[in-house]
Amino acid sequence: MVRSYTTEPVDPAVLDRVLTNATRAPSAGFSQGWGFLVLDSDQDVRRYWAATTDEIDDPDQWLRGMMRAPVVVVPCSSKAAYLKRYAEPDKGWTDMDEARWPVPFWHMDVAMASLLILQTAVDAGIGGCFFGIPPKRVGAVREEFAIPDAFDPVGAITLGHPAAERGPAGSPSRRPRKDLADVVHRGNWSGGGHEPG
Ligand SMILES: Cc1cc2nc3c(=O)[nH]c(=O)nc-3n(C[C@H](O)[C@H](O)[C@H](O)COP(=O)(O)O)c2cc1C
Repeated sequence: MVRSYTTEPVDPAVLDRVLTNATRAPSAGFSQGWGFLVLDSDQDVRRYWAATTDEIDDPDQWLRGMMRAPVVVVPCSSKAAYLKRYAEPDKGWTDMDEARWPVPFWHMDVAMASLLILQTAVDAGIGGCFFGIPPKRVGAVREEFAIPDAFDPVGAITLGHPAAERGPAGSPSRRPRKDLADVVHRGNWSGGGHEPG
């Protein structure tokens, strides 16, 4: 994740590829219940920050670096789209009972699309950062950008050219990556993982 950017614009062709690849993410039942609010003008990006923080004129290091990003994408998920899709004849969950869902696939699929956005950005030589929208500000973001009730923002992604000064290092500078053996459970949960050969 990159948290400090130059003001160099993102090539529109790169942004198009980023968004095209996002729509290649897998989705449950091929529901594709996602929507991507794209803010790629200085004015629109500033509207995003104005809606989500009071510190716009006195930013801390994180906000200063992030606010320079020339693009903000707000990936949104639609639970309603999944309930509707799975009520179709080939799925048959006509009761639209949410208890049928092991986890909220609508958020999962947008998360997968978000990773493709980040990976495409890196592949194109730029950087990105997925970050949360403060819960108290989600209403303001909805209102500012007229996001319909059927869609929920799951977070936001800055995109742009990484600054030489990389900005806040983030959590990996404060905690180690877990060992494979601590997170892989072979056979049963108490079985240790094996280091790859
Ligand atoms: C769901 C999610 C929410 C995150 N929220 C934030 C955030 O609010 N602010 C931030 O600076 N980074 C955020 N991150 C980035 C993580 O801090 C980062 O991915 C993690 O520390 C690993 O670093 P790396 O992605 O650079 O390897 C978020 C990442 C995910 C997947």
